[in-house]
Amino acid sequence: MTLCTLREVLDHARRGGYGVGAFNVTDIEQVEAVLDAARRTQSPVIVQTIAGASAFASDELYWDLLLRTVDHYPDVPVVVHLDHGPDAETCLRAIEAGFSSVMIDGSLDPVTHQPTTFDENIAVTRQVVEYAHARGVSVEGELGTIGGSKDGATHAEIILADPDEAAEFVARTGVDALAVAIGTSHGAYKFTSPPDSTVLHMDLIVEIAERIPDTHLVMHGSSSLPAHLREIINAHGGNLPESWGVPEDEKARSTKLGVTKINQGMDSHMAYAAAMRAALASDPLAADPAPAASAGRAAMSEIIAERMEVFGQAGRARDYTATAFRSPAAGTIA
Ligand code: 13P
Repeated sequence: MTLCTLREVLDHARRGGYGVGAFNVTDIEQVEAVLDAARRTQSPVIVQTIAGASAFASDELYWDLLLRTVDHYPDVPVVVHLDHGPDAETCLRAIEAGFSSVMIDGSLDPVTHQPTTFDENIAVTRQVVEYAHARGVSVEGELGTIGGSKDGATHAEIILADPDEAAEFVARTGVDALAVAIGTSHGAYKFTSPPDSTVLHMDLIVEIAERIPDTHLVMHGSSSLPAHLREIINAHGGNLPESWGVPEDEKARSTKLGVTKINQGMDSHMAYAAAMRAALASDPLAADPAPAASAGRAAMSEIIAERMEVFGQAGRARDYTATAFRSPAAGTIA
């Protein structure tokens, strides 16, 4: 069993001075893509998924299959993490399913998608921390508002994190990790030109890291949006507008400034979609989706392995001694 908590994996990253990619998955072959890349590069890894965002109709069925897939990789330290849990109830569902880590995103109201107050965010985060920690599960919270769309339906404005509030938030909630809004945004449309320091506030990472040295910092919206993948998608029926993401060297730099968890969804999905669209177009008689999905899986695994080198996690599973996490549902608490 290689399921690990987020706290344990990120503590190892901090000691080793590297970052760990948290890769969003929406189907089981994508889980395989992430875990194959981790095995190939000998990386500890975080597999994360957003409730309701998978190809499955049932979260519980998808989550069960996801956790079973991890069992096939006993050599890889893996965190299974709920990304952007919108409310306490969704986080509790993921914990009951066996996830070793959850994010409670109390920065936005789950119904109106408007920013919550600081105290409202603390109240719901504290509730999830109490439940999760009693079961050995790690918790990530969010401060400030990361822009863009997490689910394709909302487009939150960016509200930068405040270092004083970060210190108070951590003291009052006890989160293991904190997503800090530093100017990045989610999705396939991020910046209209290459981002500079007026857009990406890397200095905020340093300021916040100094205030909360025992809490891990998370960079959301870290995809680079590679132009060559956009071109392949657009050459095969897509219409993605030109957009810039977070440069690779800035992501690598963030791990030296205090970030230990780097969230990436869109780059992986663009690689998958580009390969899938090209494969379908190359065979007009294609009816079985499996060969195209297989091409998508292989392309996704490739870009993730490349990112693992950039983040510094490649090779770090070699000296990693995992403390196996077992969910309460499985009978043991770590
Ligand atoms: P991207 O949209 O940049 O891939 O970010 C993913 C993310 O932050 C998920 O929480």
